[in-house]
Amino acid sequence: MPEAKPVSSSRTEMSEIMQPNDANFVNKVFGGTILGLIDLCAYATSSRFAGGLAVTASFDRVDFHEPIDVGALVTLIGYVTYVGRTSLETTIEVHAENLFTGEKKHTNTARVTMVALDENLKPREVPRLVCETREEKIRFLEGRLRRELRSKQREERERIEVEFHSASDEELDKLMAAASLV
Ligand SMILES: CC(C)(COP(=O)(O)OP(=O)(O)OC[C@H]1O[C@@H](n2cnc3c(N)ncnc32)[C@H](O)[C@@H]1OP(=O)(O)O)[C@@H](O)C(=O)NCCC(=O)NCCS
Repeated sequence: MPEAKPVSSSRTEMSEIMQPNDANFVNKVFGGTILGLIDLCAYATSSRFAGGLAVTASFDRVDFHEPIDVGALVTLIGYVTYVGRTSLETTIEVHAENLFTGEKKHTNTARVTMVALDENLKPREVPRLVCETREEKIRFLEGRLRRELRSKQREERERIEVEFHSASDEELDKLMAAASLV
């Protein structure tokens, strides 16, 4: 098993200026540009921690609360929050700075699950995560909770989707009119 590593060893910071070709149709930065940068930062954070290649397995929900202006300096800060056996959860914070006024805002926090791969591109064990602070321990438990809830929700969703496919047309109409499906 690889040697355990502290959360701090995974900390990765990347900055990039948002350019005119990053703009959407209302002259703010495209969500996809930010998602691409989050993915890159998750790659760097996880590969640094795993000591080798890691690939993106899944993105958790990402909300865009505030638009980012073209010309802003976007800084992403990544760190590992939870580790499984071969997968790990990275948390990526996105900050945007107006270089003229110095105003800074924290625009998003994303969680990306990455899987470490060996030379045959098969999942391989990642180091255990050493949580040194209370905050790191809470983040680890939150990561584990997210993983357990995702798995429960997936099972529940798949079970209900099977019911949709076996329902009669009348039953589908009733479900369409129902106040809730869960
Ligand atoms: C991610 C990938 C390597 C997992 O391979 P796999 O054969 O399903 O591996 P396993 O079932 O052995 O699972 C390995 C680990 O990945 C995790 N995992 C697999 N699919 C996952 C998903 N969709 N979301 C979160 N975790 C996932 C498993 O929980 C397991 O974690 P653990 O070891 O910590 O318990 C494989 O699905 C893959 O190569 N996907 C494409 C990755 C890629 O190209 N990403 C870029 C997108 S263009």
